[in-house]
Amino acid sequence: MIRTLRAHDASLVIEERGALPPVWRWWGPRVATEALPPIGDVRPPASFSLDSDQPLAVVPARGTGWFGPAALDAHRAGRSFAQWFEAVSIDASDDAITVTLVDRAARITVVQRIVRIDGAVVLSASVVNDGDDALDIQWLAAGTLPLPADCTAIHSFTGRHNAEFVSQVEPMPAHGWVRENRRGLTGHAGPPGLFVTGPAAGWHAGRVHGAQLAWSGNHRLTIERDDDGVWILQMGEALAPGEVRLGPGERYDSPEMIAVCSSDGINGVVQGFHAAIRARGPWGSDGAPPRPVHINSWEGFYFDHDEAALMALAERSAALGVERFVLDDGWFKGRNDDTAALGDWTPDPVKYPRGLKPLADHVVGLGMEFGLWVEPEMVNPDSDLARAHPDWALQLAGVPQLTARNQLVLDLGRAEVRDYLFDAIDRLLRELPIAYLKWDHNRDLAPAGGADGRAGYHAQVVGAYALFDRLRSAHPAVEIEACAGGGGRIDAGIAARTHRFWTSDCIDAVSRVRMQRGFLHFMPPETMGSHVGASPAHSTGRRQGMAFRAAVALPGHFGVELDPAAIGVRDGEILSGAIARYKALRARLHRGRVWLGDGPDGLVWQLHGEPGDWLLSVTRTDPTTFRRPPALTLPPLRDAGQVRVRLLDLATEDGHPMPDAPLFAALRGEGVTFDGDWLAEAGLPMPAMKAESVALFALETL
Ligand code: GLA
Repeated sequence: MIRTLRAHDASLVIEERGALPPVWRWWGPRVATEALPPIGDVRPPASFSLDSDQPLAVVPARGTGWFGPAALDAHRAGRSFAQWFEAVSIDASDDAITVTLVDRAARITVVQRIVRIDGAVVLSASVVNDGDDALDIQWLAAGTLPLPADCTAIHSFTGRHNAEFVSQVEPMPAHGWVRENRRGLTGHAGPPGLFVTGPAAGWHAGRVHGAQLAWSGNHRLTIERDDDGVWILQMGEALAPGEVRLGPGERYDSPEMIAVCSSDGINGVVQGFHAAIRARGPWGSDGAPPRPVHINSWEGFYFDHDEAALMALAERSAALGVERFVLDDGWFKGRNDDTAALGDWTPDPVKYPRGLKPLADHVVGLGMEFGLWVEPEMVNPDSDLARAHPDWALQLAGVPQLTARNQLVLDLGRAEVRDYLFDAIDRLLRELPIAYLKWDHNRDLAPAGGADGRAGYHAQVVGAYALFDRLRSAHPAVEIEACAGGGGRIDAGIAARTHRFWTSDCIDAVSRVRMQRGFLHFMPPETMGSHVGASPAHSTGRRQGMAFRAAVALPGHFGVELDPAAIGVRDGEILSGAIARYKALRARLHRGRVWLGDGPDGLVWQLHGEPGDWLLSVTRTDPTTFRRPPALTLPPLRDAGQVRVRLLDLATEDGHPMPDAPLFAALRGEGVTFDGDWLAEAGLPMPAMKAESVALFALETL
């Protein structure tokens, strides 16, 4: 019997085979399956093969003679190492398929769930120990999915602190492809995810498969070529040796894997990801309320906190139109640099003799929300907390503890540690008018030994999620930003619990163009923290004009991370103009879909909105090499009918303007009407743009 799950224009097709485990027939563009012959009828026998054929099972298992990647690697003290599953039930509806498999000899049950959310499917698996001795789990794939034999390339990302989202495109492997992370944290390469392109696929058209794992810890993504010429995609948690040992009746749950297939190119998958992240996120289908303009104290003040100076910053910020004031690192007891005090979450009595309340009240009195930085999972050895509980950090008995940024990681697998952190943060949230937490995590876990001497990576993620969940249910109105030295914890697991990501500690606007486009591959724009930083940028030393810096920040969740007193009058005017523009446009930037694209001559662009009402930003980082600007083709506008285009802004340095074509007077005024097909194929005339400039257009169908 054939079971099909439809997600927009994609189909997942599974064949039931009685007691034999179900097998994959297809994951790809939508197909009808009424006339599908059974798999046994379409696979010829192959030489040097087992007499019982082994097509790719939904939960492939070694014991059946499967030579590809197994969904489960488990054993009982070295025995029961290869499973032979029997299908005991398959529950299927239009929205979900649940497959339950049992290995009666090894006494193991595996459940594979596949649930549709809009255009995405969410896969997850559980394993239960039905035996009466311990079952060690080495690997449980969240999902095992087939990729067609004509796939062409894997698009993924690498990165480091200050350089997140470095794009990588690799041909499909002849053998295998692995992206494994053992840092105990998502990592600066961006979410554990990838895109696989089909023949001639690009941004806007062609078949693309994508998947991302909703997990903030160690992970493994693999693509292995099968002897049959197809590829097999798996994602799951990368477990350390001995990390998951199930006692009788115990269960291990994989993280969830969000998978999308689209015939509308990479953007089709991007849009499926955004819809799924939104549906799973804190606002659900209501969507985010208007994202308030931030000021963040970090790069303007670092650890140098002075109540009067920060009150003055709040006043200057409010005057600029800022709506949320975030007090970053440096506010708590003994925190004068990064060598001490993490863990001691009370205000520093020297910097804040009256506590934080006067500053917070002042911020609120100015009409802004007050936000506070915390780094709950961390402890400095030089802290009251570490002195009181030296055994609370993750460690390995008998070997030195490894610090990073002078800090250790608290063992969130322990209930007393979570309780301490809950109480400390809950007290702050009850005593102060805090609307927002910036929740940081400034190091990797190395090595993460729990109190029992066993690996504690998995327990750390589960414990952190429990702490997030408990604080959120106690303070549902408080928003949380996920930060880990910038973009070290950006993933769909934490996205279900938080409201914003700090994309990168690098606020250099040229670097941000690339990073933010990488971010938007997986996450929607309203969750993308994007700030206007100082010039020169602290992380790169590069200088960029204020207009360009602000225009690059505009499409995300906009903020300011500099001291407005340190910029000139003209830059202040440009910044307050950009804040006003952001407020006017944010509702349109942060709902609907995002399309990314490349133009000729080094241009990159993105379109936000829904058909009929789009905002288009076109960015040039390097100078043009062309005499005249070529038109920019916008494939998503095909079939849009008549489209009125207005040039809202050309963010560029003052002075020495480039001459415009006559059309631009009208484009800057009431607009010019084009045919959508013309814009899709022949293109939108572009203004001459200097290096480091952004053209912002509004496009509306008539
Ligand atoms: C991390 C964050 C920064 C800032 C500092 C404070 O690096 O990414 O934004 O909060 O910590 O120590």
